[in-house]
Amino acid sequence: MTACGHIIFLGAPGAGKGTQAQVVAQRMLLPHVSTGDMLRASVGSGSEAGKRAKAIMESGALVGDDVILGIIAERLAHDDASGGVIFDGFPRTLVQAEGLDRLLESVGRLRVDHVLHIVLADEEIVSRLSGRRVCENCGAIYHVAFHPPMREGICDRCGSVLRQRDDDRPEVVRRRLAVYKSETEPLVSYYRNRAGYAEIDGSGDTAMVSARIAATLGIEG
Ligand code: AP5
Ligand code: MG
Repeated sequence: MTACGHIIFLGAPGAGKGTQAQVVAQRMLLPHVSTGDMLRASVGSGSEAGKRAKAIMESGALVGDDVILGIIAERLAHDDASGGVIFDGFPRTLVQAEGLDRLLESVGRLRVDHVLHIVLADEEIVSRLSGRRVCENCGAIYHVAFHPPMREGICDRCGSVLRQRDDDRPEVVRRRLAVYKSETEPLVSYYRNRAGYAEIDGSGDTAMVSARIAATLGIEG
């Protein structure tokens, strides 16, 4: 299979979508489009839309499909998206998946090329999310035990401060997992029979998971 185009990272909260999407985006020189990161930037800006998104995200629920599809339509119109993008955390509902198919068709891009479904057991997810730290400036992802920064609390990449996400509190994680099962897991049936769908074992260290993804995409590991 050719290494090109539109790639979706699908998987539960904490499965490793962001970590692996950053690696693939860098290797394939494609933009990393994370709806979670875009929403957090909007929250950080203090805009009215950001305030509405903040309340929803802190509860572990999903932001409305119309808002998300609007953000994606705008992002796909940028020049750097013309050769494809790496979607991380989008689509997350059937309405979003259907909306993406329509959007790609309308801009003359034929289809989603790969759907990489990262699979990980719930116990592992909880342990990964409870130790996660993210850079408030560049979005780099760390873990206090599994992927610590060189200097505690400081991003290796840009030197900014690392923070724990507000939605990584245990009670919100439980809600996010439940929402994933009811709203997002049905997308597996939507994509499963299409060319380019693959289940990726998300266990093991980051390099092991990256190697499985590289083999699936046919790119250098
Ligand atoms: P979003 O930001 O997308 O969060 P999520 O889907 O819940 O996923 P996470 O970012 O928590 O996990 P991840 O899979 O990216 O894991 P990561 O690589 O960080 O969405 C947040 C919220 O925004 C949603 O709840 C919703 O409200 C809203 N939203 C976003 N998109 C939306 C949409 N399309 N529609 C509606 N609402 C939307 O890894 C986790 C940790 O594990 C890190 O610490 C990492 O260092 C570590 N780790 C990663 N891989 C490994 C490994 N192999 N071994 C050991 N540790 C590892
Ligand atoms: Mg993420």
